[in-house]
Amino acid sequence: MNVDIAARVHGDALARGVLRRYGEHLPLTPDMPLISLGEGDTPLVRSTSIERDVGCAELYFKLESCNPTGSFKDRGMVVAVAKAIGDGATALMCASTGNTSASAAAYGARYGLGVYVIVPDGKIARGKLAQGSVHGAEIIAVDGNFDVALGMARAITSRHPIALVNSVNPFRIEGQKTAAFEIADALGEAPDVLAIPVGNAGNITAYWRGFIEYQRLERTTRRPRMLGFQAAGAAPLVSGEPVADPQTVASAIRIGNPASWTSAVEARDASGGGIGAVTDDEILSAYDRLAREEGIFCEPASAACVAGMLKRAAAGESFAGQVVVCVITGSGLKDPETALRAEPAIHRVPAEFEAIEREMGWA
Ligand code: F0G
Repeated sequence: MNVDIAARVHGDALARGVLRRYGEHLPLTPDMPLISLGEGDTPLVRSTSIERDVGCAELYFKLESCNPTGSFKDRGMVVAVAKAIGDGATALMCASTGNTSASAAAYGARYGLGVYVIVPDGKIARGKLAQGSVHGAEIIAVDGNFDVALGMARAITSRHPIALVNSVNPFRIEGQKTAAFEIADALGEAPDVLAIPVGNAGNITAYWRGFIEYQRLERTTRRPRMLGFQAAGAAPLVSGEPVADPQTVASAIRIGNPASWTSAVEARDASGGGIGAVTDDEILSAYDRLAREEGIFCEPASAACVAGMLKRAAAGESFAGQVVVCVITGSGLKDPETALRAEPAIHRVPAEFEAIEREMGWA
């Protein structure tokens, strides 16, 4: 570790974070500094209305949007970056639909590492572009989708001493599995169902690993059924075939050939679960309901798992008596275009309190 990084790491002890809280479950080596931006320990919040429509006993949202850069990626990024620092790397690279790059950019900035992100040109949400930009990452936009960008990132990092921090990096998955530990700790047991959006399929892989490890350690007595959801226009795990030109409003999961394909299918089958597709209309309807009925502003990809649970229930599947957890993977603030896709209803009035009261109907 160079002196500059040692000085930067010095202040991280109070943040706790994933490395300090879950170090015993992670492949830490003495070279890896216990860095943190305060990731993990996110809220598990009970549903007020969607629970009723799903027809389960209890439905909770795991608010991964509360991580430092507004998505679940920070849990895995902190471990991958600690590993990169431990190995003496001075630069990070990832392909991204926007959240991985935002997270890499933040941790890279904090620890003085160069960050190169490859994104599909024009296809990442504005807030995520802003994050990469403010943290000073080099943003490389390619004429191609995420799958093409990941191929580029793999090729380049195999040729240069740059750490690849996509979820093909095993340290990413290790960090992300800690969310399963938190859910089990909060509930005192694994839930019956874990509902999760699926893109590159790293996260469903990570949760499944976390639940398996916790059961082995006898922290829980069971494992959940894993229910994954993809966008209908980007659903290779549902069709069983890669999708050459994936399309969906949920830009975070606009992925046609997931890197963790095999492990996602294994999580599905070993858990007795399923991976289904939801249309963009179903995603946006769940997104609106989360915002208006639950007070949760998430990005469209996150709403896919809620849309999926509502869809399964509407198709007649019974969740009676079950505890369900939906993973809210990212913050709605990242994607203002979707939030403002309809002109917001703004009441324009003179700056006079009587005028405002009249407009309110409280005159
Ligand atoms: N939800 C959000 C908000 C995401 O950003 C992603 C993936 C997923 C769900 C799917 O997770 O890929 O592990 O199956 N985003 C990646 C990125 C691809 O580049 O930010 P996954």
